[in-house]
Order: sequence, then C-alpha cells, then structure tokens
Amino acid sequence: MALSILPIVTYPNPILEQPCAPVTAFDRQLGRLLDDMYETMLAADGVGLAAPQVGIAKRVAVVDVGDEHGRIELINPVIVEARGEQVDVEGCLSFPGLFGEVPRAEYVNVRAQNRRGRLFTVSATGFLARALQHEIDHLHGVLFTSKVIRYCDLEELEG
Ligand code: CO
Repeated sequence: MALSILPIVTYPNPILEQPCAPVTAFDRQLGRLLDDMYETMLAADGVGLAAPQVGIAKRVAVVDVGDEHGRIELINPVIVEARGEQVDVEGCLSFPGLFGEVPRAEYVNVRAQNRRGRLFTVSATGFLARALQHEIDHLHGVLFTSKVIRYCDLEELEG
C-alpha cells in the first residue's frame, strides 16, 4: 500500500494541547499510521513527529535525527530517567518559522513499545535526547513554546 503524506496540524489547533490516549491495539492500522507519520516527517524536513500533529490524539511518535539510532518508533513512551541539562535552539513542525532556546535534560532513558507491542528502552544524550523529550511532551499536550526561555529571530539563526 502506498504511503501517504499527512496534513500537519498547526498551532492553535486544540488537539495539540490535549493529553493523548494510550495505544491498546497493535494492529495494521497502527503500522500504517507510523509509516505515514515517518514519511510526513521526512517530507517536512523534521526530526520528529507526534500523532496529535497529524490530528490523532494517541500516544504515538516517530523520531529520526539522522544518527546511528535511525528511525525510532515510540508507542506509549515514558521517560524513566532524566539527568543533566542542556539549552539549545528548538523548533516544531506545528509552529512553522518559530524557533527558541529550550532547556532540556542532557540524558534520558525512555521506555516504549514498538509497533508489535514489545517493550524496549532507548538511551540518548544531546540532540536525540532533546528530540525524544520534545515528542513525548507533545503526547502530554505540552508544546515547546511553554518551555522557551528566549525566542530567536531567523536572521540570528542564518547568521
Ligand atoms: Co513539535
């Protein structure tokens, strides 16, 4: 079946600020959603995408920051450990053109289920840790704008 690029929901759509429901059915429909979300993320030049960003209030996210971890599919993810602090520039596909500095944990350990429902953990530092925290926040209805300590203008970023 051909993949679909899904429309990305932008702020202030209320679905972005509501907590998402846990996934209970690990079926073909979930696999299809994950495949379409990944394709949508790549087409939008993103490094992560959460299901509410495509209009589905379920605890599903995909992340790929282009490192050796590759494509990470997160179903019902939970941060089980977080340490340290980093501050860096962040954006979000639901806020086109908006960037700001956000403090995040430097290290996280995340437990999630894969598309077959099997539990796994992923440990990450730096940019991948940031992306994981950003996407998991989405599943709680928490947007990066609530954590920005300083907004950046585009000229500064293109510097
Ligand atoms: Co986002």
